[in-house]
Amino acid sequence: MTGGPVTGGPVTDGPVTQPAAIVSGVGKAFGARQVLRDVDLQVDAGQFVALLGASGSGKTTLLRLLLGLEAADTGRVLVPAVRTTVFQEPRLVASMRVWRNVVLGLPKATRQVALDALSLVGLAGHADAWPGTLSGGEAQRVALARALVRRPDLLLLDEPFAALDALTRLRMQGLVADLVGRFRPGVLLVTHDVEEAVLLADRVMVLKDGHISLDVTVDLPRPRRIGGPEFDGLRDRFLAELGVVDAQRHQPAPVVGDDGPLRLSASADPNA
Ligand SMILES: Nc1ncnc2c1ncn2[C@@H]1O[C@H](COP(=O)(O)OP(=O)(O)OP(=O)(O)O)[C@@H](O)[C@H]1O
Ligand SMILES: [Mg+2]
Repeated sequence: MTGGPVTGGPVTDGPVTQPAAIVSGVGKAFGARQVLRDVDLQVDAGQFVALLGASGSGKTTLLRLLLGLEAADTGRVLVPAVRTTVFQEPRLVASMRVWRNVVLGLPKATRQVALDALSLVGLAGHADAWPGTLSGGEAQRVALARALVRRPDLLLLDEPFAALDALTRLRMQGLVADLVGRFRPGVLLVTHDVEEAVLLADRVMVLKDGHISLDVTVDLPRPRRIGGPEFDGLRDRFLAELGVVDAQRHQPAPVVGDDGPLRLSASADPNA
């Protein structure tokens, strides 16, 4: 595994051995706004990490640092060369057929390579479709195929299910859990959804006040279901850290902020 092209500033890029990503003492400001102050975070190879945080807490900024799209002001970011991402929206090229989107930027990739990746997400039959004809869930599955076809060591997911309806969201969560279990990239999933984080992740972190304020290993057996004392205990702990629920009294906090940033939904089991 080699270091990727994280550019600019004092960020040092370099080889990563076992971990899929290391963020160490990272700070990032936009003008006078200090978004990240001192972020330490490690994603181990094959580990699924979920990152929770209120709107504007810097989650996407952190992902962009890991992708090399942004440079940190301070600290170090170590990433593998092959890292891919799925955003909230699929970002497909409308003028290219689905299969070409999947292998876009891969010079030697053939149609068969694209078809194999599309099969993983159940869309081989849509290989020759135009992106504009796909449903939202199908388009996100194409984006997932595009991310997986590169066989990433680090898969970065920025709220990839957020724009989907509840049922499609559950199916996508199950699909991601299945494919990640098979290919074992390190995963960093940014989400507002606390239950989604507990359902999917090996570790859940909270980004607050510019640093990782909580980092908890989720030991629940898989496949997981929402509910039960351990699940609820973890969920309430994260909600309390996010300021949404008083973990002692299980009451909604009086004020969350203008955005109402934290979702309590996803009340079904993606593995069902
Ligand atoms: N290129 C930029 N220029 C100026 N400010 C920026 C830039 N990118 C992000 N910010 C600011 O940094 C802060 C964090 O943004 P970021 O997108 O990382 O938040 P987030 O945690 O992903 O929020 P959300 O959950 O709403 O997606 C915000 O206040 C945002 O306005
Ligand atoms: Mg964001």
